[in-house]
Amino acid sequence: MSIEFKNSKFHLFNNEMSYVIEVSPYNDLLHLYYGAKITPDALSVPCRCNNPFIPNHDENNPSYTLGSLPCEYPTAGGADFRSPAIEAELPNGLRAIRLKYTGHEILPGKPALPGLPAVYTESDAEASTLKIITEDEHAGIQVILYYTIFEDINAICRHTEIKNKNNLYAYIRNAQSVSIDFPAGEYDYIHLSGAWARERHVERNAVHKGIQGFESRRGASGHTENPFIALLEKGAGEDCGNVYGFSLVYSGNHRFVIESEAFETPRVQAGINPFSFCYKLEEGESLVTPEAVMVYSASGLGEMSRTYHRLYRTRLCRGKYRDLPRPILVNNWEGTYFNFTREKLLSIADSAAKIGVELFVLDDGWFGERDDDTTSLGDWFVNEKKLGGTIASLAEEMNKRGLKFGLWFEPEMISERSRLYEKHPEWAIQIPGQKPHYSRHQFILDYTRADVREYIVKTISDVLSKANIEYVKWDMNRNMSDVYSPQLAPDKQGEFYHRYILGLYEVLERITSAFPDVLFESCSGGGGRFDPGMLYYMPQCWTSDDTDAVERLYIQYGTSLVYPASSMGAHVSAVPNHQVGRITPLSMRAAVAMNGAFGYELDLSKLPEEELAEMAEQIKLYKKIRGIVSSGNMYRLLDPFTSRYASWMYVSEDKKTALVYYAVARSKPVQPLLRIRLKGLDPDLEYSIDGKLYTGSTLMNYGIVINRDEHAYDNLLLEIHSV
Ligand code: DGJ
Repeated sequence: MSIEFKNSKFHLFNNEMSYVIEVSPYNDLLHLYYGAKITPDALSVPCRCNNPFIPNHDENNPSYTLGSLPCEYPTAGGADFRSPAIEAELPNGLRAIRLKYTGHEILPGKPALPGLPAVYTESDAEASTLKIITEDEHAGIQVILYYTIFEDINAICRHTEIKNKNNLYAYIRNAQSVSIDFPAGEYDYIHLSGAWARERHVERNAVHKGIQGFESRRGASGHTENPFIALLEKGAGEDCGNVYGFSLVYSGNHRFVIESEAFETPRVQAGINPFSFCYKLEEGESLVTPEAVMVYSASGLGEMSRTYHRLYRTRLCRGKYRDLPRPILVNNWEGTYFNFTREKLLSIADSAAKIGVELFVLDDGWFGERDDDTTSLGDWFVNEKKLGGTIASLAEEMNKRGLKFGLWFEPEMISERSRLYEKHPEWAIQIPGQKPHYSRHQFILDYTRADVREYIVKTISDVLSKANIEYVKWDMNRNMSDVYSPQLAPDKQGEFYHRYILGLYEVLERITSAFPDVLFESCSGGGGRFDPGMLYYMPQCWTSDDTDAVERLYIQYGTSLVYPASSMGAHVSAVPNHQVGRITPLSMRAAVAMNGAFGYELDLSKLPEEELAEMAEQIKLYKKIRGIVSSGNMYRLLDPFTSRYASWMYVSEDKKTALVYYAVARSKPVQPLLRIRLKGLDPDLEYSIDGKLYTGSTLMNYGIVINRDEHAYDNLLLEIHSV
């Protein structure tokens, strides 16, 4: 058991790290330590407050004040003026609670979170869980803090359960999943920021005084801020220094806060965004917050990412495809958009089969009367006229060619021009008496309603059970506006955003478990909902609608901070690129896409034989390397955000095989030859490159030389094997 309770201190530890919480003499929970492994027996939180303007609770002990102490789960309305982790409003209007430790339990393994996605264990030996029970007896509010620490992974999962024990009700206006007060010092932070077609760009800044916040108010995790931040001790970098990652397993409105105040002890919080949030708990009811996954690395960001990759790949993603190679696909979207016929699809499939593609994905436009994006979302019946037959017969045609068949859906949406809207206009999210805002001509279905969820589960299941469909792309193409649901009582409208996501998770659980052999890929205008919550249901995600090879270097590099290559859908598309107009060579487009779940997204039937032959070779190569791309340990070598290059590599668990990727993101004339130092190899093993032998130590210290002039779009995929 790697959790101890001794001398009023909880010590959570594994071989490499410690997390320590102290129960103060006043029964408050104080945060004592988080970082490399220590023996905390002789430690206690130092109390010394020299600021007379911070209130204290005990006149005889003015130094003990929650306003300056490191708090484990700070509340609002007391002496702590910093950001609270919880804010409640009681029937008498009181908005202050004070939580006191009342007990704890230490459990083997990791409990599931009801109705929410979460990291899991496969045996109790993998992790231990601490439940700390706190309560404000006067208010009748109980808050249980959960911490799971893993034996072999430097991760701690946290969430909170808030229970109303008074015999009336309580409104929870803010409930964070995690709050930590770090010791005074100089820190930087990293967040993954962007926009549609420019997702997850790495931003690094110094922590300054005041509040720095990163959030989504869009009803989805969003393109703009991924639900992740890292706090870095000054000087920490890719391979050195203390780094603390915070990732939220949630697909809705999230908020991350770093607050640095007078004492410069940054408070970091992550959880549901309190924006427009107000959750009513009747007597005996509970609210469970989403899970926050904290990763500690003593050796920089690279190690933090490898920890997230391993944890999310093996203990967040689920299902048959979790450990299987992902099929190489062709998707017709950028090849045809809405403009296709059965003949066109089959001619693409013929070329695809010839070059070794394994899966044909029919994207948007196969249902209702959908020939453009103005109509038919919600009408999930096959347009047999356009398809020249049933979906089952089309799937059979694909299967005859040796291809699996996959289908696109956008099940959370409703078009104004649809039979569903004619029948159920009230199912669209809208403010009474007002026309909802359009976005891509569509509205969002109210997933807080059970009847809407039933309809979706039934109609999608009907399509899936009537044909041999082995892959589903679950798309979602707008953000939420006009938020209101007539089905919710007036004092429950503040639950809307969260209830939508709970409804979505219920639908996803039902559909994915009813079709366990189907590979599901999530999508939201590309990577607008690329988050750990969605990965729990669907092990891969369409990384971005931007398929330009150069743009993808940045997007995939940024995405790799948290998410494994196996989760990143990456396709070769036509040039000039449809998003940015750039012309890049086929070799580069393929090499970039091979760093993910690989596929093609262009009209293969129009390509000359030489290009198809080149693609056939690419596919042969990917079949050889996809194992190491999806399950190797990833080491980032050159950062496109701070250099002109992007480079990373994957190393097999036994360190005998590696794959190095390098690309020029921005070229410059007359540059010294680039030498790339490799990482993660066995220093004593000999590796063969182009017929020559090098020790791992040579490759990691001297490096490999890119012995050619630096030209735009130059890139390399280099396999290395030990001899
Ligand atoms: C947005 C997705 O990101 C695209 O790949 C494509 O599926 C379109 N939607 C279809 O409408």
